[in-house]
Amino acid sequence: MDAAKRIEKALAAALAMGGGTSGPPRLARAMQHAVFPGGARVRPRLCLATAAACGAEPGLADAAAVAIELLHCASLVHDDMPCFDDAATRRGRPSVHRAHGEPLALLAGDGLIVLAFQQLALATKRAPARGIALIRIVAEAVGSPNGIVAGQAWECEDVADLAQYQRAKTAALFSAATAAGAAAAGLDDAPWMLLGERLGEAYQVADDIGDAFGSADVLGKPTGQDEKLHRPSAVRELGLHGAMARLEGLTRAAIAAIPPCPGAGDLRALIALEAKRLVPKELAASAA
Ligand code: IPE
Ligand code: IPE
Ligand code: MG
Ligand code: MG
Repeated sequence: MDAAKRIEKALAAALAMGGGTSGPPRLARAMQHAVFPGGARVRPRLCLATAAACGAEPGLADAAAVAIELLHCASLVHDDMPCFDDAATRRGRPSVHRAHGEPLALLAGDGLIVLAFQQLALATKRAPARGIALIRIVAEAVGSPNGIVAGQAWECEDVADLAQYQRAKTAALFSAATAAGAAAAGLDDAPWMLLGERLGEAYQVADDIGDAFGSADVLGKPTGQDEKLHRPSAVRELGLHGAMARLEGLTRAAIAAIPPCPGAGDLRALIALEAKRLVPKELAASAA
């Protein structure tokens, strides 16, 4: 089975556990809405690609990939709520709070966070030491002071450093994806953090470019949010040319940060291909 199919199957199995039929049906529907249909699934794909490059056995890497995607989906549900970005659409349809109401959106996000850690706890059964490493890696990426919680909280401060903000809100989960891929193979995860961090920063810079210059129809979510909400953004700080240059620099740095491993060549090729897709061709051309 290819990685994309494995991810969808494992996510469906996790949702059947956490949003199953014995609980409140409306909560189950809100959790389903948050996860299916998915977006790019870039974080779990990165996790599985790293795990494959490191020679990990699939089961443990799948659990990490699922946990990371569930946490990402939860972060989007909360990010769209009126107290954050107040976004009416996500992935081309109503955001979870617009479709299911605010209380269920809040709870669906909470439920997905807990479900993610349940998946990792189950993984410790098959490989205790590696499973515990995965829990540590993922927890650091979503909590405070360096994970998503902290990243979103920088928006409540009067002053925020752009790189620190973007590393916490976005790059930390990418770092967790690469670190978890290596840890699933029983390797030291530390050397794998930088690859994910650089990729995640690049991804957020591309998101900022899309927010400023992309179309809501194509992206499936509102644009112009960073300007409207006064968010720190690569485009607002550096302009389009500066942001494109930063994106290119980060992509190069990501590829250079791949540690030696059996599948390094394949991983390099995959990342170079994904990086090309980050910014639509027309936008890249108009910035050149
Ligand atoms: C959106 O992430 C939020 C950012 C951190 C940029 P994605 O662009 O990965 O969202 P989906 O999962 O593909 O919808
Ligand atoms: C979202 O950042 C990052 C999260 C941690 C949820 P943004 O608010 O910039 O992402 P979009 O543009 O809504 O996807
Ligand atoms: Mg936001
Ligand atoms: Mg947002």
